[in-house]
Amino acid sequence: MHHTIRRYINKVFTSSAQAIGDMKSGSSLIVGGFGLCGVPENLLRALSLTGLRDLTVYSTLAGTTDQGLGLLTGKKMIHALHTSYIGENAEAERQYLNGEIELHIAPMGSLIERIRAGSNGILGFYCRTGTGTVIEEGGFPIKHFRGGKGVERYSVAKHTKMHNDKVYVYEDSITADFAFVKAWKADPMGNLVFRKTARNSNADIPGSARVTIAEVEEIVPTGSLDPDQIHVPGILVQRVIKGEQFLKPIEKLTVHTPEGITIPGTPKQQKVHEIVAKRAAKEVKNGMVVNLGIGIPTLISNYVSKDINIVLHAENGLLGMGPYPEKGKEDPDLVGAGKETVTLKAGASVFSQAASFGLMRGGHLNLACLGALQVSQDGDLASWIIPGKMVKGMGGAMDLVNNKTKCIVCMEHTADDVHKLVKTCSLPVTGKKCVNMVITEKGVFEFRDRTGLTLIEIASGVTLDEIKNNTSAKFHVDSGLKTMVV
Ligand SMILES: *[C@@H]1O[C@H](CO)[C@@H](O)[C@H](O)[C@H]1NC(C)=O
Ligand SMILES: *[C@@H]1O[C@H](CO)[C@@H](O)[C@H](O)[C@H]1NC(C)=O
Ligand SMILES: *[C@@H]1O[C@H](CO)[C@@H](O)[C@H](O)[C@H]1NC(C)=O
Repeated sequence: MHHTIRRYINKVFTSSAQAIGDMKSGSSLIVGGFGLCGVPENLLRALSLTGLRDLTVYSTLAGTTDQGLGLLTGKKMIHALHTSYIGENAEAERQYLNGEIELHIAPMGSLIERIRAGSNGILGFYCRTGTGTVIEEGGFPIKHFRGGKGVERYSVAKHTKMHNDKVYVYEDSITADFAFVKAWKADPMGNLVFRKTARNSNADIPGSARVTIAEVEEIVPTGSLDPDQIHVPGILVQRVIKGEQFLKPIEKLTVHTPEGITIPGTPKQQKVHEIVAKRAAKEVKNGMVVNLGIGIPTLISNYVSKDINIVLHAENGLLGMGPYPEKGKEDPDLVGAGKETVTLKAGASVFSQAASFGLMRGGHLNLACLGALQVSQDGDLASWIIPGKMVKGMGGAMDLVNNKTKCIVCMEHTADDVHKLVKTCSLPVTGKKCVNMVITEKGVFEFRDRTGLTLIEIASGVTLDEIKNNTSAKFHVDSGLKTMVV
């Protein structure tokens, strides 16, 4: 018998530049992070200095104009971008509209699940997300001609399957040449531990690429991580580097102030938003698990009565989101779905982004409140794009409106001089027949089986005549029409 010498696998590279040394122009790359939270910033910085071009990049969000993926778009290194949202990266939006890059827009939950499937050896999967939209039907302009004149290429329809009289869309898995993730700690074997919501897609991505590179804040000796606390086993990680410099910028600093909340917008908008949010808060019942979208819905939790206990869900991978932190207590590793700084309530849990969208897709949430550009009289919702004008992306909205979770739209009744409650949506839809209730500053509408779109409450000081003048959708007036109490 001879003694084994204790030797462990060592995947540690000396620098970010060394770790990406074999990347080439045309490589495909999957990037972790949510906005600027948990972004592999050192690897991205190193890559941005290489002058490589024609990269195909997959990331659930597209960073900002000059941070995160913005480091690559700023240097025009991307040829094709697969993401759910480019709203904070104006340069990516410009390059897309000007025909410089391909944009493959995808629902956030489907995108991260496709990457997870790639890592897990699953060819693809069927889901309900995106049915009845451009995701199922195709026709999204992937590429414009140079200079932005006309569309060079549209997305094609996806394969579908009927199950129990419902359409399911086939989503294929994603694998790539390289993947960049950011973790808090690693050991030389590549075992990873994340911190708070910086876990996000970073926990789902490892293994989806031929080479997964993890950048971490601290490399600890093999054996020092508690095996029970390891989030990603080292087998899925090929290279580890200790990041040279962590700037960890906060994308949206939000703090709790003694004066209470500040509502953005003009005084008139503030009033409208307050009315809508206060009324929506009454739909939140004790014990509910609730997802509040960005815009007016973010205000709702401020008006939920103190004796009502709810659990707030954030799509980046968090249940039990608490209020904004006290000034100075903000943590770049702890953000909500709007990338705003938040806190954790007692009983909170943090998990990966794929798990988070599983909660939505699986119908485990009770209530979702969203904003909208248009809602049709059939309950179709349009909220993610104004073709040719505003291209932000659907983010997680298509995943959320799954017809299993009650869906309340919170919006201004009209936008300047245009109606938002319409006969049919002229804008590309986020979901078909998926809205259960619409709350505006003028009234509350419910979608009912027998009467369709039904006005059930009217704001005080507003006449039915006025609502009719401001609504293109055909609606029924409930016989028990009430005054809207806020
Ligand atoms: C809304 O209704 C008011 C009152 O009838 C009217 O003055 C206004 O023009 C309407 N706005 C729209 C966008 O229809
Ligand atoms: C959602 O549910 C409603 C009521 O059950 C149904 O009428 C509608 O067709 C469903 N929508 C979709 C997209 O499945
Ligand atoms: C609604 O529009 C009609 C027709 O344009 C107009 O006669 C009426 O005064 C409007 N109602 C209100 C409340 O402004």
